Amino acid sequence: MATTKTILSKHETDEIDRWLERFPKDKAQSALLAALRAVMHEDHYLSTAKMDAVADYLNLPKIAVYEVASFYSMYELDEKAAAKNTIAVCTNVSCMLNGSDGIVEHIEEKLGIKMGETTADGEFFFKVEEECLAACCGAPMMQLNHVYHENLTNEKVDELLDAVRSKRSLKDKEAS
Ligand code: FES
Repeated sequence: MATTKTILSKHETDEIDRWLERFPKDKAQSALLAALRAVMHEDHYLSTAKMDAVADYLNLPKIAVYEVASFYSMYELDEKAAAKNTIAVCTNVSCMLNGSDGIVEHIEEKLGIKMGETTADGEFFFKVEEECLAACCGAPMMQLNHVYHENLTNEKVDELLDAVRSKRSLKDKEAS
């Protein structure tokens, strides 16, 4: 049976340990956000197994981890987010008033998927909905792999997504 140690990678436990050092010994819960972020960086989503492993590692009840993971929309619980790249378009008020619906439509058409789906090649996951990401002055905006891109136009979206794809195909070519 897999143990906490084998479920969490060395990178994840190193990162958690680095954060644990910053807090008093009896305040391990303070390292929870960072622990979940470390898992997100590796897997792109939080599986139940990984959340349970984080709970064990920090000596917290599992429910304490689930509560945090499901509260913040930046944490992804959907396994489909294991795709190589995650797109999250903010559809909250400022972005909606500045054309986020059109951006969403454009991405859906370009990639041939709806929000909440992953492209057939596993390259892109298009997150269902994103709440205000506090970049309203740059509306409409999106996160691509958690990096902010603001004042979006369809052309800018094309450039960003095409750049990700061509970077990936270059890497694949180099690896083969
Ligand atoms: S409404 Fe989109 S960033 Fe605030």
